Amino acid sequence: MEKKSCMILALDVSDREEALKIAEDVSEFVDAVKVGYPLVLATGLGIIRELSEFAPIIADFKVADIPNTNRLICEQVFEAGADAVIVQGFTGRDSLDACIEVASEYGKDVFVVSEMSHPGGAEFLQPVGETIARMAAQAGAFGLVAPATRPERVKAIREIIGDKLTIISPGVGAQGGKASDVIAAGADWVIVGRSIYRADSPREAAREIAAEIEAGPNGE
Ligand code: C5P
Repeated sequence: MEKKSCMILALDVSDREEALKIAEDVSEFVDAVKVGYPLVLATGLGIIRELSEFAPIIADFKVADIPNTNRLICEQVFEAGADAVIVQGFTGRDSLDACIEVASEYGKDVFVVSEMSHPGGAEFLQPVGETIARMAAQAGAFGLVAPATRPERVKAIREIIGDKLTIISPGVGAQGGKASDVIAAGADWVIVGRSIYRADSPREAAREIAAEIEAGPNGE
């Protein structure tokens, strides 16, 4: 995944035409599009290939099962044309290894959730976030998902993993995070959903966030 705007669109709409239009409109300002259950359950897995015309696709299925089932899920995701999959780390090293093995067979990437961005993410997952980050690095994942709502956590996780893994960070805008702060804290990409797809002009919204990232936290 090439790093240009440092921004990933979370395309959580449920209408195929709307999804394709938004992806096309904002493609100039995003490095990838993240699709998850809302869009895929509403429109079918085929939407992944359709969207891949505009940007690399990250399939956010937060895969969290036994190794064999994880393997079967990841095979479907990559057969459908996704460039990367997001998986949970709390299911343990064997479950993660299964995902990474399939990804390497297809030449694709795995991102591991170390911590979630909503308030409840601090309840159970945060206390083990750093252990999950270390495991993901040892297992050879491509990257981690860390919360833009808590830039200090992004910083802590970056310190643990060094430059070994990339960090993608959801929670900008609607959940309160500021894109440039999160990039300054050590994220490679911010993930932005509602602030773009619910805007009157998703293209303008994406352009503004991209400009804010480029200007940096002090607006220079
Ligand atoms: O609309 P908003 O910008 O809050 O979207 C954030 C996206 O990132 C959603 O698709 C959400 O499911 C996802 N996500 C998250 N926290 C994680 C992993 C994924 O918010 N840890």
